[in-house]
Amino acid sequence: MATGRGGFSSKLGVVLATAGSAVGLGNIWRFPYITGENGGGAFILLYLAVILFFGIPAMMAEFCIGKTAKANASKAFEIIAPGSKWYIVGLIGVIVAVIILGYYTVVTGWTLEYLFRSVLGDLQGKSVLEYSNMFDDFTADPVRPILWTAIVVFLSYLIISKGVQNGIEKASKVMMPMLFIVLIILAIRSLMLPGAAAGMKFLFYPDFSKLTLQSLLDAVGQVFFSMSIGMGCMITYSSYFKKNVDLIKTSASVASIDTLVAIISAIVIFGTMFSFHMQPDEQGPGLVFKTLPNIFQQMAGGIVWALLFYILLFLASITSIISLLEVVIAYINETWHLSRIKSSRIVSAITIALGVLSALSFNLLSFVKIGGMGLFDFSDFITAKVLMPLGGIAMAIFIGWRMGREEVKNEITNMGKYPVAIYKIYMVLIRFVVPIGITAIFISSLLPH
Ligand code: TRP
Repeated sequence: MATGRGGFSSKLGVVLATAGSAVGLGNIWRFPYITGENGGGAFILLYLAVILFFGIPAMMAEFCIGKTAKANASKAFEIIAPGSKWYIVGLIGVIVAVIILGYYTVVTGWTLEYLFRSVLGDLQGKSVLEYSNMFDDFTADPVRPILWTAIVVFLSYLIISKGVQNGIEKASKVMMPMLFIVLIILAIRSLMLPGAAAGMKFLFYPDFSKLTLQSLLDAVGQVFFSMSIGMGCMITYSSYFKKNVDLIKTSASVASIDTLVAIISAIVIFGTMFSFHMQPDEQGPGLVFKTLPNIFQQMAGGIVWALLFYILLFLASITSIISLLEVVIAYINETWHLSRIKSSRIVSAITIALGVLSALSFNLLSFVKIGGMGLFDFSDFITAKVLMPLGGIAMAIFIGWRMGREEVKNEITNMGKYPVAIYKIYMVLIRFVVPIGITAIFISSLLPH
């Protein structure tokens, strides 16, 4: 590595850290819920097609930019296209990271509260209504969620301030295998529950009549969020890749891990819910924090399963949070020329401040509405549905139409290791399929439906 900015030490480190970013709340609660809403099996096939045609090419585009420029998400564009306005795309990415951090750390704080409660035995002996109220009371509290958010940011700071190799890479190498083990244990347990087979049928039997145009759009949106693409997170991580890292292999591995974790999480949740005759139709936070505690308490050894589940959510979230923090830290570090520690402190402080606003949007600030949404929902909307799709389109256009052909060709074919035909197919995807596809979701997300 030519520069003094450090980097991932091994290929395993690259894959685990990048998969750590991708695997997060998006896989464990968002994917199962969206799959449930879109009728199960057929949606999973659609999701796989979207990963293949949009997700992997878009991830490779970001890798290509980051690995070539070896700089943060904004400076990378300045280096490849000096004197142009392209750096704004990266700058918007940095802002998106800050906004996502503001609410993502709050939700991760909720997982700590539930982890804590499962240890205290608080997730037992309650009715469906009591669990629902418990969650509402907790988020209505102006203090407790903020304390947990601060703890989450502090723990993330401890990792991220140690740098790329000793912080991000080391933490990912410990936390990702733990996450896989916990996930597999939960999946086996779920599959052994009586009636779990009905959940599996729902999940894997494709009923194409359940798919709508909206399903395609849901799949594209979910792929972007889940793979951490469209805002420079993957540019930042790939700026720490060594020269010999193979972009096709890396993106295929990360996409496979991310998808497997999503599908296995869906097995855990659907197997468990169908076994207890519950339909997977409750949205987002409700599913994981209101419905699941009620199911866990009915299972033999329920506290252990609840504990494992919230540990799983926490591990998945924290490795995603550090990737979002890194986007901003690399930017501040390289643009404002502040030390890594100082940059980490500034970003942590900003994150806590936004986290406070986001947590308060459930109580003291619930009157603040932007476009009819609370701050929490608005942050999710403006990032996932507006800024990330726009970023995805911009980056595809940058790689497809602006960056030097030879450079892209060398990166994609790994210096000629892969046949030119692969590069040609890639160019068709990134010049036409990806930008047109994302434009479609972007427009439709703005239309009322
Ligand atoms: N991909 C993560 C998840 O599934 C969240 C995440 C991390 C993310 N970094 C990102 C989303 C960058 C968008 C952009 O939960």
